[in-house]
Order: sequence, then structure tokens, then C-alpha cells
Amino acid sequence: MSKGKEKEKLGKGKQQENNDKVNDLSKVTEDGAGQFLTTNQGVRVNDDQNSLKTGGRGATLLEDFILREKITHFDHERIPERVVHARGAAAHGFFQVYESQAELTKAKFLQDPSVKTPVFVRFSTVAGSRGSSDLARDVRGFAVKFYTEEGNYDLVGNNIPVFFIQDAIKFPDLIHAVKPEPHNEIPQAASAHDTFWDFISLMPESTHMIMWVMSDRAIPRSYRMMEGFGVHTFRFVNEKGKARFVKFHWKPLLGVHSVVWDEAKKISGNDPDFHRRDLWEAIEGGDFPEWEFGVQIVEEKDEHKFDFDLLDSTKLIPEELVPVQRIGKLTLNRNPDNFFAETEQVAFHTGHVVPGIDFTNDPLLQGRLFSYTDTQLIRLGGPNFHEIPINRPIDPIHNHQRDGHMRQQINRGRVAYEPNSLGGGCPMQAGADMGGFTSYAEKIDGKKVRERSASFFDHFSQATLFYNSQSKPEQDHIVNALRFELGKVETPAIRERMVYILSQVDKTLAARVAEGLGIKVPAKIDGPLNMSVPADGNPRQFQPKRVEKEVGSSPALSMANTPKDSIKTRKIAVLAADGFDGSALAAVKKALTNAGAQAKIIAPRLGFLRAEKGEEVKIDFSFLTAASVLFDAVYVAGGEKSAAALKGESDALHFINEAYKHCKAIAATGAGVDVLRASYLGAVEGGTAASEASKVVANEGVVTGQDAQAGKVATEFIKAIAQHRHWSREAKDQVPA
Ligand code: HEM
Repeated sequence: MSKGKEKEKLGKGKQQENNDKVNDLSKVTEDGAGQFLTTNQGVRVNDDQNSLKTGGRGATLLEDFILREKITHFDHERIPERVVHARGAAAHGFFQVYESQAELTKAKFLQDPSVKTPVFVRFSTVAGSRGSSDLARDVRGFAVKFYTEEGNYDLVGNNIPVFFIQDAIKFPDLIHAVKPEPHNEIPQAASAHDTFWDFISLMPESTHMIMWVMSDRAIPRSYRMMEGFGVHTFRFVNEKGKARFVKFHWKPLLGVHSVVWDEAKKISGNDPDFHRRDLWEAIEGGDFPEWEFGVQIVEEKDEHKFDFDLLDSTKLIPEELVPVQRIGKLTLNRNPDNFFAETEQVAFHTGHVVPGIDFTNDPLLQGRLFSYTDTQLIRLGGPNFHEIPINRPIDPIHNHQRDGHMRQQINRGRVAYEPNSLGGGCPMQAGADMGGFTSYAEKIDGKKVRERSASFFDHFSQATLFYNSQSKPEQDHIVNALRFELGKVETPAIRERMVYILSQVDKTLAARVAEGLGIKVPAKIDGPLNMSVPADGNPRQFQPKRVEKEVGSSPALSMANTPKDSIKTRKIAVLAADGFDGSALAAVKKALTNAGAQAKIIAPRLGFLRAEKGEEVKIDFSFLTAASVLFDAVYVAGGEKSAAALKGESDALHFINEAYKHCKAIAATGAGVDVLRASYLGAVEGGTAASEASKVVANEGVVTGQDAQAGKVATEFIKAIAQHRHWSREAKDQVPA
């Protein structure tokens, strides 16, 4: 494709940038523009409408190679979806380190601040199938492939810093339990069913993760507003061979924000592609998502100084104990050209590391190191999936691996072994000083045993730490989520076991959930938890052991403490009808746009709206094609005629009610305030009383004023939107929406 055409094709907003990987992909990218239709053999096709027949009404001839080729290819279009994380969306971008990290690691991509390392990042849900809703209550995958000059490095993480299980041998059980139940394949993309909670209630090690998954972290507002975590403890190794433990973090510059559960359920119906669309549109519009890369570093001598084991993936290192150092930035600035070729065929693997990054003995990580290639062999159909363009490193591959399905590379010469003399000894091994990967020489001295270290037995105290660190609304949401999920469980014994487990986290939490379920918190439960029978024949239980924590509460764990100083990229619904106040609407829209938000006009029908004074604005959505849950805030325009029309529009009132119920910022000017009064807000004291008064009123996220004060209303509205949600309303208002 010509450079000009390529540019034209890229985003309408800021120019989407190419990088070395995108340039590499462009060698195999085509769009057929200005070309003749051909078969896969390059033969031009003369008639793509009719198969070859014995006369117009006769039988089709087997000879028709064009028909056969087309249908055969179609018949084989599908490949297996991922066993987990099947549903996802991805984007290209780059990573830049702020300053050299040579003291910590020799990884080249972490040395030079002027180097932009290309990345491909895929976000995903875990449990649902490829076509499931983005808004399922679930962990989100956050997988980053760095195409470094030393080869590919994959950081395959999640948006939650801990995991359900401590040992990979339990992963198939966990996934079987959460996936749709095998007899009827119900429910899709949901953990609210018996098999999941049966398993969880018997696996107390999952309790910490359950707190996170029942929190609003599991229903993010956007992929762009999620944290990411490498979860396991890895190793950084520097040029001198010195190793340190490291935990990886991604911190979104837009802050960490979520939706509420009622909203999530409704988004699933209104736009199951909500997160996918949000990522796509942000990048197309030039609002490139950004995350800072954070590391928590622990010196080897401090390995045992914590009240938990660094190798236990159900634990995090509180940021108050080991601060997160932000060492670089990830920017996503280009959408894929083809979902299947890139997002579906990309193969991430925790085992893809570069010199300077190494593993630890975390038994969950160790299992993952086996699992990813193994699953990709079947998902992508053979051993050459590293040659699929999205998976190829940008540095060249030279080795003696040969053949296999769909081999792309043509290896010249007779030598396919090492050592060799016939090939001049090439390709040759690289010394460590020439970039050859050397594994960290960890000292290992132990018995071969099938058991779990006692240092992994504390299953509850970090769950308590998480719960204690949440704000009151966040705790309420956890209670409600547990009531919902366990309320969908049909087996009473599972509910009881689960409530007992919760009582080990926090008595009030357990009591509140039990009350919602109409049961009592059991004082004890029957049956062993996590039982195994070791070689000595004595059944052994991994009975949880509570450990006193060094920190009782960690502010970093609460989304309430995320930065709330920007409305960048937020979507604001502007409700209006013919006869709206044009200058007030223009002033509010301009202020919102200047602050980086997007204001979309929503009206009773599509087309153009005419203002009181005759000017026209284009309508973005009708009430039929928009929904309150798809927006971050609502402004109701002034103008008597517009307000009268909106008051008579039940969809408009419902729109406002839902925004109010979900604690979003709402603003109105002039007669627009009457529309608020006609909605549920009419029953609310405060914010809606102000239109006649000459002052602007902002009350719990509801901002009102006269049309002439639109500029001031916009200023207060922007502050209210930046708060993300106004939770104080939630406790006292029972909105019928
Ligand atoms: C800390 C725990 C884990 C995290 C953070 C994690 C993360 C992820 C992510 C982000 C993906 C999606 C990759 C993509 O976008 O293509 C994924 C896929 C997958 N994970 Fe994990 N995972 C974890 C544990 C495990 C374990 C313990 C196993 C198995 C022992 C496992 C097996 C798989 C498999 C089979 C896939 C599908 C890969 C593919 O088909 O490309 N994961 N995981």
C-alpha cells in the first residue's frame, strides 16, 4: 500500500504512529484497493456471482475450482478459541523507560529512554466465550508483548494483583468450576453458579482473590482505566549477575474506575462490546491510552522478611511496605488492521523472557511456564505459530528447528544441527556478554516432595487487609456482589460454607451477606478443606493460619483513592429536543470538549435539532440507539420547547433516573432543570431547586443554574464528572430505574 493511502487509512484524530513491528506487519498487509479479484493462486476471477453449471438450471460442476477453493477456505475459517481469556481486544503501541534501569536489570529495553520499544497489548475476560459480554464480573487479562531488540518479552498479567490458587495443578479445576456447567452449558461468562462457589468454598486460599473479584475492580469502566499486575514475583538480573525480586504494575494515567453492577448488567444488553468499542474509539480519536510501568523491588536478603511468602500468588506486597517505583510508560496508539490475524492469533507466554528478567519458584508461575506453548500448539495448529506475523520478534530468528505444519521460513543449506563444522559452526551460541540468555543460578537444595510450604497457609489476613482498605461504598458493593452471586447458588451447603469462609475475613461482612441470603453464619463447618494424602498416608489439611499483618489498611488498594482530577475521554450525554437553548448548549459542550471529554447529542429522533434561535446541531443518537449506562454523565439542555418535549419522553426521564441511580454527575440549565424535576430527581431535595435563583447549585453531583450561567454550570459539572461517581446518593436514594 502506498504511504499516502496508509496515512489516509489511519485514525481521524491524532496520527496513529507506525513502529518497527507495525512496519514489519505492513509487509504482509493488503487491502485489495484498486486490484482485481483473484483466487488464492493469483488467477484473476471473471465471475464471482455464479458457480459453473451444466446450463443455467443444471447441476454444479466439480470442476469449478473457484467455487471449491472459496467454500473450502470458508469451511476452515474457525480455529479453537482460547481455553481461558477467549474474549479480548488488543492494540499496538510503544513502551519507553524514563531512565536507565541498569542497576536493576540488563534487559536492553529498560536502558535507554530514547528507545521506543513496540508493544502489542491484549485485554480480555477469563471465563466467557469469544462472543460473550465485556461487562461480565470477571478478572481482566492484561497481556503485553514487548518486541525488544533482544527478542520478545511477554508480561502476561491481570487487572488484579493476586490469583485464586497457589499451585498450577489446581488451574484446570478452577477453570472447570467457573466455566458454564458441563451438563447444560449455563451460565455464560458468569461466576454466579453452584460449581464455581462449590470449588471456592472448599479452597480457602482463594479468599483474598474473591474479595477482589467481588469488588468493582471486576467490572471496570474501561480497559483504559484498569491497573495491570504481573501477579507473580519475578527476578530482575543486572549485568553483574546480581538478582532482585520484582513485582510488576501498570498504573493507568486516567485513574482506576469501575461501573456499578446494575450498570454492568444493563451495558451487557445495550452494548456487549462496550470495552472493545471504548478502546477502539479512543485510539481512533487520538486519545491514546497510557499506563506507567511500576516495579516493587525486594532485595534477595529480604526474601523472608514479610509475613507472607513472596512465592505465593495469593499475596501482594502492600505498597506501604515496598513502594511502587514508576520507571516507564506504555502508550497504545494504533488499532490492529485485522482482528483475527493480530488479536486472535497473538500468542502470549510467561516463558517469553529476555536477558535480565527471570522466574521464581512460584508454583503457579511454574505451571504457566508449561501451559501456554502447549495450548497454543493446538489453538494455532502446530509448532510454527511463532512465524505468524504478529508473533514474530523484530530481531531475526536463527536456529536448527525445522519443518512442521505451515513452515514459512526457508532455511538454506544442509546443516540443521549443532555443533557443526559444515556450516562453519553457525548459527552459534552467544556468550552472556553477547546477549546470550543465561538462567539465574539459583541455589536449590531440597527433597522431591508433593506438598505445600507452611508459609503459604495464611489464607485470610490479606483478604481482611483488602476489605479493611475499602471505602464504605466499596465494602457495600462487595456485600451486594456476594449476595447476588451466592443468591444464584442453589445448594444450601455451598452458601453456608462460603458464609463461614467470609466470617474468617470479617464478621460484619459475613453477617451482612448471610442476612441477604436469609441464613445464619455457621460457627464451624464440616469436612476438610484442601485435603491431600501425602506419602506417609496421613491425610493432611492445609488449614488456614491467620498471621498478624504489618499494615492493617492499604490506601493503594481502594479505588476511592485513585486520582480524580480529569474528565479526559469521558462520554457525556447531552439531552435535547427542538427548541433547545443554543448558546447554553454550545457553552457547556465547548467547556466539556476543552476539558478532553466527548459530548454526544441525544434526542427523541435522529437527524438535526433546531435551537430556539434557529441554529442546527447534528444528533448523535436517538433515545432508541443510546442508553444512559453507556455514558459517564448527563447534561439536560435549556429551552422551554425542548424541555417540554423531553418531559413527555419517558425514555429521557428513564435516562436521567438511571444516571442518578448510578451516582453519575448530572447537570441542567434553564428549563432543563424542569426535566430533572419531572424525573426521580423531583423527589430529591437540593440541586434541582436552583433554576429560578440566580446562583449555580452543585449538590452531590447534580449541578443546576440558568441558561445564562452555562459557563459556570459547566465548570461545576466538570468537577463533578471528575469525581467519577457520587456514592453518597447510593445509600439514601432508592431510584426506581
Ligand atoms: C497469575 C495467574 C494468571 C494470569 C495473570 C494469567 C493471565 C493470562 C492472560 C492475560 C491470558 C490471555 C493472553 C491473551 O491475551 O492471549 C491467559 C491465557 C491463558 N492462560 Fe493464564 N493466567 C494465569 C494463570 C494461568 C495458569 C495457572 C494457567 C495454567 C496452568 C494458565 C493458562 C492459560 C491458558 C491455557 C491461556 C490461553 C492462552 C492462549 O490460548 O493463547 N493461566 N492467561
